[in-house]
This record gives sequence, structure tokens and C-alpha cells, in this order.
Amino acid sequence: MIATLPYGRQSISEEDISAVVDCLRSPFLTVGPRIEAFEDAFAKKVGAKHAIAVCNATAALHLAMLVAEIRPGDRVVTSPITFLASANCAAYVGATPDFVDVDPVSLTIDPMVLESSWKQDTKAVVSVDYAGQSADMPTLAEIARKQGAIIIEDACHAVGGAFEHNGQIYKMGGHPWADMTTFSFHPVKTMTTGEGGMLVTDNDVYARKARLLRSHGMERNHSTFESPEACFPTAEKGPWFYEMQGLGYNYRLTEIQAALGNSQLNRLDSFVERRREIVAAYNAAFINVPWVQIPALRNPADQSLTSWHLYSPRLDFAALGKTRTKVMDELRQRGVGTQVLYIPVHLQPWYRKSFGYGQGKCPNAEAAYAGLLSLPLFPEMTQVDVDRVIQSVRILDQKPNLSCA
Ligand SMILES: Cc1ncc(COP(=O)(O)O)c(C=O)c1O
Repeated sequence: MIATLPYGRQSISEEDISAVVDCLRSPFLTVGPRIEAFEDAFAKKVGAKHAIAVCNATAALHLAMLVAEIRPGDRVVTSPITFLASANCAAYVGATPDFVDVDPVSLTIDPMVLESSWKQDTKAVVSVDYAGQSADMPTLAEIARKQGAIIIEDACHAVGGAFEHNGQIYKMGGHPWADMTTFSFHPVKTMTTGEGGMLVTDNDVYARKARLLRSHGMERNHSTFESPEACFPTAEKGPWFYEMQGLGYNYRLTEIQAALGNSQLNRLDSFVERRREIVAAYNAAFINVPWVQIPALRNPADQSLTSWHLYSPRLDFAALGKTRTKVMDELRQRGVGTQVLYIPVHLQPWYRKSFGYGQGKCPNAEAAYAGLLSLPLFPEMTQVDVDRVIQSVRILDQKPNLSCA
């Protein structure tokens, strides 16, 4: 029995392991120099002024809501083709999460739908770079900012990616059309810290607030204390002293995770390059298969800039005469793991119950969901692995003969 290729998996080198072991032998397991180094290196890599490392990207999205002062009565719109966290972050702060349909090509928010469905109480747009492909950030930002709303880019799928606009190249996290950008370092993502995330911004106020709220709202820097002396029984504010300036959380990354993050960041370009090679091989193999619609780019110039997190073609299961479950089962028996990313979030029971959303709200997302199937994509895939996926998909229209699997 051959081992099943998962749809995504981390790549851990001996250098990564040494970096973590070195950290374990060091005095700091949390709040130490590796986190600072990771934040500095990440900010430099993406071209942002500030990078704030957190325990996962869900926390980064929550912090983004908090620092932008999104509150009850506000609406936050996002894409339905995303992981739950892109929408849940709005609910965490008591705001109303809402969904704007995607364009059927890129499966990112359709700017025309955003504009035509705009509601006055919308205070933030959380745009999602599905599978790694950039949403149309310049157009989305123009629409949001004209209305006085902020724009947050959920670039959890797009670590190390970039896009082209008017002949110039812009990196995710390092362009002017997002007020804040979030990245995830979950093991299936482009680089990993086990669990982990990063919030990046050029905005000094957002950055300071996010740092505070990441750690219980505690300020230790005496020069930025805000309390009147009377708040405390003694006026003495020695080296032990800290102030709680807001209601924060423990969203800290550990030094151990940052050690891995620093080491992985050194390998990011090679991860992205290998992902692009595999995507190119899949595209070439599937382009003429009539029941496979390969993932298309909104802007063909982004071919060499996108850092593919997922390879999610759409399959015509009706043409194949098989259900998606049957296809997944046949592929698994040939050693090919698959996943469906994503069930449109507005169709989840909690969203239906809480906000009255349902079928028909986002027709393009719902139509796309009917065909989506994510195939294995991770840097350590060998040519044999890639060929196995290609061959297994190509023969899906034949009657299964699994005896030689
Ligand atoms: C688009 C998107 N946003 C947010 C998240 C949340 O990331 P994390 O698991 O690091 O909290 C994920 C993770 O799957 C994601 O895919």
C-alpha cells in the first residue's frame, strides 16, 4: 500500500531542527531575541514597516479588528471562499460579518459586487488571496477607502507572493492598498512555525496597539505610560511596573516557533519556486482534460509572482459520472489525498442561524464550490509524486481498476 500524498505538508530541514534545538538550549523560550529577529526579517522580506508575530493568523485577524476599532453595529465584508477565520474575526468584536461574491475566475472578491452591494455600516473589507492569488487590491481599496472603510488583506495563502499592477510588482504585505495584512504559518501553508501568524502594517498606531493587545494590553515602556498617578496606591513606578492600557490577550508566538520561522524564512523563496513548478506541471497536464478546469489567474502577468498555497482545479463531476466523494475515494486508493477548500462560509449553520444567510447569496462561490478539489501541492513532492497525481486524475474517467495500486 503506497503512502497517501496529503494536499499540503510542511518541509522541515536539518537546519530548521538545529534552529529549534538551539533555542531549546537558550535562556528564552518566549519573548526573546528570536521573535524580534523574525519580525524584522519578515517585515524586510515583504517590504512592510511593522511585523507583529502572533500565535496564529486567526489572532492576527482578531487584532486587526481590535486596532481598527471595529465594534458592534459595524459590518465587515469578506469572501465566502475562505477559511472560517476571515469572517469569524468580525464576530469576535461583535460586528456583523457579511459576504461579497467572488469573481468566477480568481475566486477572490469581485470589486463590482463589492461596490454594488455596499452598505453604509460597512467599516472594513477583509480581502482573501485565495490559493495564493492576489485579489484585485487596488480596485478593492479604492472602493473601500472612498466609503471611509479600511481594507485588511488576508494573505494567509500568499506568504512570499506578489502581483503586478500597471507594470510594477508589489509584494503581499508591502503595497499601499492594504491597511493591514495577515499571514498564517500553519503547517500546510507556504512556510511554517507549527502554528503561527504575522500581522503587518505601515501604520504606526495600528502596530503599537497590536503589540499591546497581543500581550494583555500591558505597556512596560515608562515613556508611554498613560495613567494618572492616582490610579495606583504608590507613585513609585520602578522597573517592575507595567500598565494595562487595553483589554488584550495572550496571542504571543514562542521563541521556539520564531526559531523555526527564521529558519523557514530563509527557505521561503525555494518553497515558492517549487510550488510554481508543480503548478505549471499540473496546468500543462490538465489543460486539455475536458472535465478539469485549471485554476486561472485574474491577471496572467501574475503567473511568475503567485506563491501557490493550493492547487484547486474545478472538476465537472457530472461529466465524469461520479460524485466528489467517489472521486476522492478513488484518488485516495491511488495514494492521492485531496481536500475541498472551501465550503462557502455563508452556508455554515452558524452563519445561517446568526445572520439569516443562505443559498443564493453568493452564486459564483456556490457554483465554484460544487467543483473544487484541492490536489497535493507541497515543496517536497518529487517528480514521481507529481506524475502519480497527474496520472491518477487523468484516468478518473475510466472505470476504476485499483488492483495494481
Ligand atoms: C484564508 C485563511 N485565513 C485565515 C486562516 C487562519 O489561520 P491560522 O490557522 O493560522 O489561525 C487560514 C488558515 O487556514 C486561512 O486559510
